[in-house]
Amino acid sequence: MVNYKDLGLVNTREMFAKAVEGGYAIPAFNFNTMEQMQAIVQAAVETKSPVIMQVSKGARNYANATILRYMAQGAVEYAKELGCENPQIVLHLDHGDSFEICKDCIDSGFSSVMIDGSHLPYDENVALTKKVVEYAHQFDVTVEGELGVLAGVEDEVVAAESHYTKPEEVEDFVSKTGCDSLAISIGTSHGAHKFTPEQCTLVNGVLVPPPLAFDVLAEIEKKLPGFLIVLHGSSSVPQDEVATINQYGGQLKAAIGIPEEQLRQASKSAVCKINIDSDSRLAMTAAVRKVFAENPAEFDPRKYLGPARDNVKKMYEHKIINVLGSDNKL
Ligand code: G3H
Ligand code: 13P
Ligand code: ZN
Repeated sequence: MVNYKDLGLVNTREMFAKAVEGGYAIPAFNFNTMEQMQAIVQAAVETKSPVIMQVSKGARNYANATILRYMAQGAVEYAKELGCENPQIVLHLDHGDSFEICKDCIDSGFSSVMIDGSHLPYDENVALTKKVVEYAHQFDVTVEGELGVLAGVEDEVVAAESHYTKPEEVEDFVSKTGCDSLAISIGTSHGAHKFTPEQCTLVNGVLVPPPLAFDVLAEIEKKLPGFLIVLHGSSSVPQDEVATINQYGGQLKAAIGIPEEQLRQASKSAVCKINIDSDSRLAMTAAVRKVFAENPAEFDPRKYLGPARDNVKKMYEHKIINVLGSDNKL
């Protein structure tokens, strides 16, 4: 059993409370590689931001769970080396889908876990989330639950609406499970293709997606004042990165994300955590494609992973400062 406190990590309790109070949101960046980890730490230190480093089941399979945990431990030490006296870094399991995976993470040094029972019938989601909370809280690990299903990339708007979180269920879910925060569905979705062009409106040559369901968020805030809300699927899919990818041989068609202005608005509300993964993938891929296109003879991984790291770090800093507002909070 490894306790996260011995690794210098923190849970989400205090940072979420401060974020909601201060009208900003904590960035939750997914990582699979050393370069992403370095970029997250560099960006958080330089902007003086708390940060959540999150690991999906896919990341555990790709990089190995033990290695990722040691990387998070290394992240704390690296932040100190970069001059941050008191780094606020959370190691979080993203989309845990069973009690066993949550327990495994808690036992190996994670400070926060998500149990995603959103695909289950309501009562089963409650029972599973409650079981994880009871285990996690013994070790002061915080737990994120989920209610409502995020739209798949192919879903119609109508189908997406029918999966929005039901505000009337939220109070019951939180009181029965004891979860610390709740991921909700208000129109975001995972991946780089969140909306089809047909779902968007053309404004000054730019495809503008339909707005998030801020009315559902407001209803939830009314039912549970002050409760901590999480937004998944919150990449903005920067069009300059998409253009670079396509300019240098990529074929990303109709990649559309959540407009930053809507994430800015969400950050000022009860939304305390905003999940970003796809934008990191895009920033890294754009940089790598550019290096390969301009230097076809290059074969030293440092020559393309270095620029990828720099580009993704720039993106993280932009999110922290200009979108979520979590800079200068350490
Ligand atoms: O929510 C999903 C994250 O973007 C993680 O994606 O399962 O491909 O690692 P992944
Ligand atoms: P994006 O695909 O929009 O980056 O969402 C990531 C996410 O929600 C991870 O849990
Ligand atoms: Zn997610």
